[in-house]
Amino acid sequence: MHSFVQYTPTEIVFGKDAERETGRLVKKYGAARVLIVYGGGSVVKSGLLDTIKKELDAEGIQYDELGGVQPNPRVSLAREGVRKAAGLGADLILAVGGGSVIDTAKADAIGAANPETDIWEFWEGRQTVERSMPVGAVLTISAAGSEMSDSSVLTNEETGRKCGVSSDLNRPKFAVMNPELTYTLPKYQLACGIVDIYMHTLERYFTPVPGNRMTDEIAEGLLRTVIEYGRKAYADQTDYDAMSEIMWCGSLSHNGITGLGRPRDFANHKLGHELSAMFDETHGATLSAVWGSWARYVYRLDVPRFAHYGYAVWGIENKDEKEAALAAIEKTEEFFRSLHVATCIGELKTGVLPDETLRKLSQNATKGDTIRLGSFKELTAHDAYEIYKEANHG
Ligand code: NZQ
Ligand code: ZN
Repeated sequence: MHSFVQYTPTEIVFGKDAERETGRLVKKYGAARVLIVYGGGSVVKSGLLDTIKKELDAEGIQYDELGGVQPNPRVSLAREGVRKAAGLGADLILAVGGGSVIDTAKADAIGAANPETDIWEFWEGRQTVERSMPVGAVLTISAAGSEMSDSSVLTNEETGRKCGVSSDLNRPKFAVMNPELTYTLPKYQLACGIVDIYMHTLERYFTPVPGNRMTDEIAEGLLRTVIEYGRKAYADQTDYDAMSEIMWCGSLSHNGITGLGRPRDFANHKLGHELSAMFDETHGATLSAVWGSWARYVYRLDVPRFAHYGYAVWGIENKDEKEAALAAIEKTEEFFRSLHVATCIGELKTGVLPDETLRKLSQNATKGDTIRLGSFKELTAHDAYEIYKEANHG
């Protein structure tokens, strides 16, 4: 087991009517002026935004708002949020929405705390985050795990790049999580969210560091829970228990706990981000589209590990290690298919891509073959190309 630091400072308030605690929490964290960030309108339609405003009014908290955050959130809107936060003299940024909204709120917090620096400098890695402002989240979709995570992912629409910045300063002070708020999700978003949750643990599970039993047990328990309750949630998204399990898995899958003591991989995320950056694809679907190809490309490096995944998560029996490894990959793809998400590039909205596009995606992902992706196998641009090529069918 490698040495590690576990830091999960986010206060979680979970359950029915949890959003009614928002005003109290904002006050608890010492804020008096809040920038509310939200998306394309679901929280307006559901009445959640009004509820939150009433909560803040009741505590005498001032606020301004930034609406219109899109999935694959754009840096330009985040910059507008920085200006609004400065104009208000905000002391907390409150996200009401999903990963895109929370990531924009995190960007606004960093931007407002560093007025001399354009925020994209942090996302390109040219500047390190040394200070930020407090962020709170009212979560409306179980997916990205941004409500507890240390990262924020933005897209620069001018350069076509999608990048993330990781810092413990990004971890929200609190997250309000009422599973009932997720009942109104479009089915496709629910499915993509379930895939993303699953992948956040899988990307920590396949690494070059053996052993680490406790972390494995946590990870395997989470994966089994996502499979069982993901199916139930997909069948009936008003099933409170199923939506609760998925919501809590979403936070635990990306707060660090399923990968303690070993390096993360996250190569699939890098490959997926390039598809989102170029084609504005939904994040979760980009992961399910490439994972099977990645797995078949790398599993020979550690067949016992893939076999163990099959035994522990999928209950595979009576097979030798190679058969179990391949069956586990197949079972994972079947699970994705049962949620009606893509398991190849041809099933994304882009359809099958020309070879030159695959080469460009591979170059973009590896910054012109100057960086390696992942840790289980450190992927070169050529490896990335081979994986995209393998996934490039209908
Ligand atoms: O914009 P509105 O109208 O609110 O609609 C949203 C959006 O269209 C809708 N939605 C959300 N909650 C709803 C709802 N519709 C009806 N009822 C509700 N209760 O769902 C759509 C998707 O929202 P989005 O916030 O984009 O979803 P998600 O949470 O999946 O976030 C995806 C983004 O997070 C990034 C992804 O790359 C992507 O940009 N990620 C962030 C991470 C992090 N910060 O730690 C880690 C992840 O790996 C991921 O990269
Ligand atoms: Zn993700």
